[in-house]
Amino acid sequence: MNKKNQPETCPTIVPRHFYNCTLNEKLLYTSFLLLAGLAYLMALTYLYTSFEGIDGEPGLSVEDVAENYYGNRSGTRLESALRGPMAGYIDTEHRNHIVEWLKSGAPESDYVRLIKPMLDENCIVCHSEASGLQIPDLSSYEGVKQVANIDTGVSLHSLIKVSHIHLFGIGLVALCIGLIFRFALLPGWFQNTLTLLPFVAIFVDISAWFLTKWDPTYAYTVIIAGGLLGLSWALQILISLYQIWFLRCRVKPPV
Ligand code: HEC
Repeated sequence: MNKKNQPETCPTIVPRHFYNCTLNEKLLYTSFLLLAGLAYLMALTYLYTSFEGIDGEPGLSVEDVAENYYGNRSGTRLESALRGPMAGYIDTEHRNHIVEWLKSGAPESDYVRLIKPMLDENCIVCHSEASGLQIPDLSSYEGVKQVANIDTGVSLHSLIKVSHIHLFGIGLVALCIGLIFRFALLPGWFQNTLTLLPFVAIFVDISAWFLTKWDPTYAYTVIIAGGLLGLSWALQILISLYQIWFLRCRVKPPV
């Protein structure tokens, strides 16, 4: 093999660590890490106060997260009536069809095809203007919609809005914290894992917002991924702060 044009050895880059940083760098990194930590605590507080109690119970729970993204789809007056006072006017199979339709968001197309015939057959004797009763009019889609409004959680549009802000914002913060954390002196595998973790966590977290909108069990994923993001940032920040001010070089630099 012709090695003529190849240098004897590739230039090796000696990795820098916090103890090689100038005081100016150390002050810059410390200030940023402290502010980022404070911002994270603020974000947690904001999260707690805006999610807490959505499900009607005090304190933050998986149900709160699920209900924010998925909504409370059993909350319609129509379903409660069908399971309660009006149960006697319809058989179980038909009731289940109506409940399924309600859970899918009560679309008008299915109303005409599936729901209207059932209501016409079982309900409009009483539930129409003709009956003269002051009860919900179930003879038209508009009338049914009044008792079929369900809470499907935060809209897809605002999810997309919040996601893109978070992806850009958190991505940049993760980059800055990671740029500082790379000067830490740690076993390679540990440092590499901890560097990747916030990015993976934020990706999984935001994907899980959308999945929770579809299936509320993903609320667990939202919480676990969010916790992982917090844990990995806390570790990166604390390890960096410690090493910036307390780690001394123990190996003699080569002469
Ligand atoms: C025999 C007459 C009659 C029939 C048939 C009937 N309802 Fe009713 N419905 C009533 C009356 C009276 C009320 C008001 C008093 C009440 O809420 O119990 C009512 C109330 C309701 C309400 C309002 C509940 C609320 O939250 O205020 C809904 C929704 C409803 N019915 C749905 C239905 C459906 C769906 C059917 C068909 C499966 C049906 N009803 C069949 C008489 C009827």
